[in-house]
Amino acid sequence: MTEEVEIKEGLQGVYIAKSSISKVNGEEGKLYYRGYKIEDLAEKSTYEEVCYLILYGKLPNSKELDSFSNELKKERILSDETIEIIKRMSKKAHVLDTLRTAMSSISADDPEPYSSEEEKNVHKAVKIIAKTATISAAIGRVRKGKDIIPPDDSLGHAKNFLYMLTGEKPDNKKAKLMDVMFILHAEHSSNASTFAALVACSTLADIYSAVVAGEAALKGPLHGGADEAAVKMMQAIGEPGNTEKYINEVLASKEKIMGFGHRVYKAYDPRARILKKYLDEIDGNGEEEVNKLVKIALNTEKIMVDRLGKSHGIWPNVDFFAGPLYMHLGIEPELFDVIFSSSRTVGWCAHVIEYWRNNKLFRPLEEYDGALDLEYKPINER
Ligand SMILES: CC(C)(COP(=O)(O)OP(=O)(O)OC[C@H]1O[C@@H](n2cnc3c(N)ncnc32)[C@H](O)[C@@H]1OP(=O)(O)O)[C@@H](O)C(=O)NCCC(=O)NCCS
Repeated sequence: MTEEVEIKEGLQGVYIAKSSISKVNGEEGKLYYRGYKIEDLAEKSTYEEVCYLILYGKLPNSKELDSFSNELKKERILSDETIEIIKRMSKKAHVLDTLRTAMSSISADDPEPYSSEEEKNVHKAVKIIAKTATISAAIGRVRKGKDIIPPDDSLGHAKNFLYMLTGEKPDNKKAKLMDVMFILHAEHSSNASTFAALVACSTLADIYSAVVAGEAALKGPLHGGADEAAVKMMQAIGEPGNTEKYINEVLASKEKIMGFGHRVYKAYDPRARILKKYLDEIDGNGEEEVNKLVKIALNTEKIMVDRLGKSHGIWPNVDFFAGPLYMHLGIEPELFDVIFSSSRTVGWCAHVIEYWRNNKLFRPLEEYDGALDLEYKPINER
């Protein structure tokens, strides 16, 4: 007789660890990093400060922030080998495949990729965060046949990123929006990519391998790929007046509207709420293509919230509004995944460092439902 087991598909509702990094309150639509409200961090903080907060568990004083920001700047440079990988892969490969491979090459430059010392791992995390941004911008340049732009140490993280990507130093408004995008994507508890990073690190693989595992899991449209899929849907809608018809057809065919729904949030995603304000500001004030996408996004949001919001708990998530905002910053949809990934490296690294304090190898079970004791026949008898 086989034993009755309960299978939790997709590990839904399963707790895997204790963590003090972020709190997602899905019922009320609230998000905290280390106890601080996401709304306050998006409005008043910077990505550098948020990275410090996530890694060290407290807000820095000005001396600590200066030293942390300087370390980030020092680590922005890439080796010739990493640049070569980006140049070779970028023209054909998916951006996340290039990012993953370039990330693997960074561990090759570290004489001690695995360390059990927390302080050393925090410095590796800083290196990973800084270099991922440079890699992401370089991928964006090479894909377009443009020269890679080296980092500018006079600029903060977000401004420097846009400069390395577009070749232009952004105004303060655009730099703030980029910074907010980095902050909102920095951390989100044990989502699929963070869990993948934890599975890798639980074998005591090094922090670089864990980040590569996170990048691999982020690629799919059910996770990091949703912002690109959402903007492509808006482009397919084409004109704001087509929105309702398009949504009706998708829902009638039982397909999903990308950028809506969430495993944990059954209320409005607080990050989407913050981004909607930026979208409202841009509405009618951006370039022609962006204005159209913004209108389509706002129409879609209204229709979907009316139909599936309160009744089904399906609300816009952070990925829905991210796309038109990235486009406003001059970032093409094919690059969204690497930017999400750049922002999230800090979350992955913080979780790895935290998990190692009380490491336990992940090894779940499967209920076997195949045959047993079959007779092995030699190949000429089959
Ligand atoms: C995020 C997501 C994977 C969560 O999924 P989940 O918790 O596994 O829930 P399910 O996919 O089983 O969806 C539950 C129900 O809601 C519906 N639903 C979920 N998201 C929907 C969407 N975006 N559009 C329309 N219906 C949706 C499903 O069709 C399903 O309906 P059913 O019970 O009648 O079959 C899912 O909402 C989704 O695929 N969203 C689109 C992709 C996306 O935006 N991902 C980014 C997440 S940050």
